[in-house]
Amino acid sequence: MTVPTIFQPLTLRGVTIPNRIWLSPLCEYSAKTDGVPTDWHMVHLGSVAIGRAGLVMAEATAIEPIGRISPHDVGIWNDEQRDAWKPITAFIRSQGSIPAIQLAHAGRKGSTAPGWGVDYSGTATPEQGGWQTQAPSPIAFDGYAAPLEMTRDDIARVVTAWREAARRSLEAGFEVLEIHAAHGYLLHEFLSPLTNLRTDEFGGPLMNRARVLLDVIRAVRDQIGDSIPLFVRFSATDWTDEGLQPADVEQVAVWAHECGADFMDISTGGIQGGIHIPTGPGYQVRFAEGVHRNAQVPTSAVGQITTPEQAEELVASGAVDAVMLGRELMRDPHFALRAATALGYDLPSWPPQYERAKLR
Ligand SMILES: Cc1cc2nc3c(=O)[nH]c(=O)nc-3n(C[C@H](O)[C@H](O)[C@H](O)COP(=O)(O)O)c2cc1C
Repeated sequence: MTVPTIFQPLTLRGVTIPNRIWLSPLCEYSAKTDGVPTDWHMVHLGSVAIGRAGLVMAEATAIEPIGRISPHDVGIWNDEQRDAWKPITAFIRSQGSIPAIQLAHAGRKGSTAPGWGVDYSGTATPEQGGWQTQAPSPIAFDGYAAPLEMTRDDIARVVTAWREAARRSLEAGFEVLEIHAAHGYLLHEFLSPLTNLRTDEFGGPLMNRARVLLDVIRAVRDQIGDSIPLFVRFSATDWTDEGLQPADVEQVAVWAHECGADFMDISTGGIQGGIHIPTGPGYQVRFAEGVHRNAQVPTSAVGQITTPEQAEELVASGAVDAVMLGRELMRDPHFALRAATALGYDLPSWPPQYERAKLR
């Protein structure tokens, strides 16, 4: 039987990911206020592993306390958090999936109300668990409190925090790491001319705006050695002429690859409010294809990929190497099982406990 392309393994460095259907990172706002993952994360990520997604990526996980988006985000800046991730990664691995983590810093979009469960919006006050945010330049995101401009020491602190978070991630059992440089969070704020007005070596030309990201990639690669795959998530466009453009991101992807990143996870948007994003099925695919083609690096697409046939076509055509699914895997954590059946493939790794649920 021919194995559909989305069910073919992908080897990156020392890790073989069993298929090309991957969980996109999804903030759950389900830590208490200590950044420690909970049973929710075990069930949320664990059910996607039961559903045989090849790679299960934990949500934006803060590298330092002020790197959280909300007071209810998870973190990996201390040993208690690291130890709480261990049973979750062990369960994902027990299902044959690869546990991955997105290491994040929210920058000026931090200290905000979680997506649900609270009666306030915008910036959280100290009483609500909020904090003073930091960013490349002291420009507020629409409706949020203004950040402080980061000093050179702040930048050095963050690079070290990413390195330490990478160390703890491996100790926690994660086998793939992703640096979050998208969606208007700290590293995207450095990359975008809309949010980076600095006049020092971290602002101005693209190479300067990419400097912190490249420093982070080098520090993380140095920490994790040669066998662990390192992904970067980019916003390939700010969807406005004044913002970051696809050609910029294709160039930064080349530099990122040279500095030790192996895989580009291509999303878009998030830098500021009020920008129209023309969404629709596969609306970000062309940006991923652009990075794939021009930077010559393995790449995934994300964004309204919802059917087995669509996913198979994207990988089989060579447009991208894998697909990331977010909301579709929330609606159906067993999407990969369903996709195998839909594509007429008898998945050998079907969970034995669910054998009697196999559609024949
Ligand atoms: C509830 C929710 C939480 C999200 N959290 C994250 C996150 O932690 N990190 C990230 O890079 N993207 C995050 N995203 C974006 C998704 O990973 C994904 O890129 C986006 O939803 C588009 O893909 P989809 O149409 O398959 O959902 C989130 C999206 C949703 C809906």
